[in-house]
Amino acid sequence: MGLFTTVAGPLGAFTANTSTPVLITAYVASFIVVSIVLNVLKQLLFKNPNEPPIVFHWVPVIGSTISYGMDPYKFFFTNREKYGNVFTFILLGKKTTVCLDTKGNNFILNGKIKDVNAEEIYSPLCTPVFGKDVVYDCPNSKLMEQKRFVKFGLTQDALRSYVRLITQECEDFVKRHKDFKGQKGTFNVPKVMAELTIYTASRSLQGEEVRNKFNSSFADLYHDLDMGFSPINFMLPWVPLPHNRKRDAARNTMIQLYSEIVQKRRSGEAGKTGHDMIWHLMDCKYKDGTQVPDHEIAGIMIALLMAGQHSSSSTISWIMLRLATKPQLVEELLQEQKAVLGADLPEITYDDLSKLPLHAQVVRETLRMHAPIHSILRQVKQPMHVEGTPYVIPTSHSLLSSPGVSAIMPEYFHNPNVWDPHRWDSNLAEKLEAGDEDEEKIDYGWGTVSKGTNSPYLPFGAGRHRCIGEQFAYMQLQTILVAFVREFKIRNVDGSDRIVGTDYSSLFSRPLNPAVVEWERRNKEL
Ligand code: HEM
Repeated sequence: MGLFTTVAGPLGAFTANTSTPVLITAYVASFIVVSIVLNVLKQLLFKNPNEPPIVFHWVPVIGSTISYGMDPYKFFFTNREKYGNVFTFILLGKKTTVCLDTKGNNFILNGKIKDVNAEEIYSPLCTPVFGKDVVYDCPNSKLMEQKRFVKFGLTQDALRSYVRLITQECEDFVKRHKDFKGQKGTFNVPKVMAELTIYTASRSLQGEEVRNKFNSSFADLYHDLDMGFSPINFMLPWVPLPHNRKRDAARNTMIQLYSEIVQKRRSGEAGKTGHDMIWHLMDCKYKDGTQVPDHEIAGIMIALLMAGQHSSSSTISWIMLRLATKPQLVEELLQEQKAVLGADLPEITYDDLSKLPLHAQVVRETLRMHAPIHSILRQVKQPMHVEGTPYVIPTSHSLLSSPGVSAIMPEYFHNPNVWDPHRWDSNLAEKLEAGDEDEEKIDYGWGTVSKGTNSPYLPFGAGRHRCIGEQFAYMQLQTILVAFVREFKIRNVDGSDRIVGTDYSSLFSRPLNPAVVEWERRNKEL
């Protein structure tokens, strides 16, 4: 019983005594084989010369999702060699057109609002995390206003006050953390740096109440909320799976907690201290004169927490891991601090940071090789012609930009796969910009920024969705770096120059966990 005796063809008649499960399996198998054959024939026989070439793939819907997801950069470079700078691949059933190199970056990131759209792509993943009416759950013009609020809240005075708070957090952290007991030891860099990043960002940008809550309720809530960015949610963000139910509960609680902070402050119960972003947002008004409602303040604060946490924690982790491969550079950094600030190393200030070029170059070089965002996506809204090609990208496609590719192209960077902060000694940053003859400035409503039209180095993106956290991130990363270099020597446990691979499984790329390095306390023998 259960075995069929006659099969007339892949989709042909089966004998009557064939059991239903076997029948279903046979039909499914036949369906898959036929779809694969048709899919391959379609690719070989029907090439549209007016659309970019499609990356060859066997299985429809899945397309190239797996090879892209495992190592996007390998995928981009391999296909660039085969098809050039513009090609299309199937990502979770969707035709996704990649445009590489500086022209590709510019085509997508500086695309006009009538042609390209971010919120259609990002909203399903981000709105359940950030909440309603903010970022991608509102018209783009409203997002531009929200970005203006935040950008104008990150004043020089605010950043100045944050350096001290972040330094204090770092000092407390290395005193009380269990991994830093004694004179010498090891620590798992991504895990420990994620903790330190969240404490420093919450103490400064988010304010004292939020920082204090991280010792208790916020840490678990943050974790549950963060699960909203798990890979499965690229496909199923709304399905009531356990992690999505936890995400929704965490978002509601978090919005409530932020709203309570705002109400307490508005009532005058909490005296005004410091320059945090909540105080600033409470004073902001939209162009139509309305105040930012409490749930929107909460949503913006959650978005900042998430955006800043993933990118800064990944970057500071890579900084530590890269430094562990070059311990002599840690000593060079210490020498830079001594030469500029004096041998007694007084407390670092915001103004001091700009006098420490090697520290900034360590951050810059790390972002060149380890940009936390490997793929930036947009939905095509009108057929878009790609200049210099016969291609017109139809509205059924998404666009994918990866500025991380031009940042490791030998055409722009000598020995691009070597991490060398000194490559920026010769004012490379200025040269990259100076070479940009078409360099234009533009204001999308949140301050003037350079369009970055021809720059191969765009770790903070370009165009209307460009990052507004750059100055904050540099300040935070450099301040943590200063504190660590003063406290510790760092090297790889086996003394080698090996480094872990990258985990590309979420929206943000980060070092594979665990990644353990050795530290040794300086004993203040500075
Ligand atoms: C946007 C990178 C830190 C807030 C972006 C984008 C990139 C980026 C590439 C453009 C995304 C797109 O075009 O779709 C980085 C890197 C960081 C960093 C490399 C640190 C090393 C931060 C921090 C904050 C922040 C600390 C908050 C304080 C934002 C916001 C946007 C953004 C609000 C705008 C999103 C939009 O307009 O769609 N960031 N970021 N980022 N980032 Fe950052």
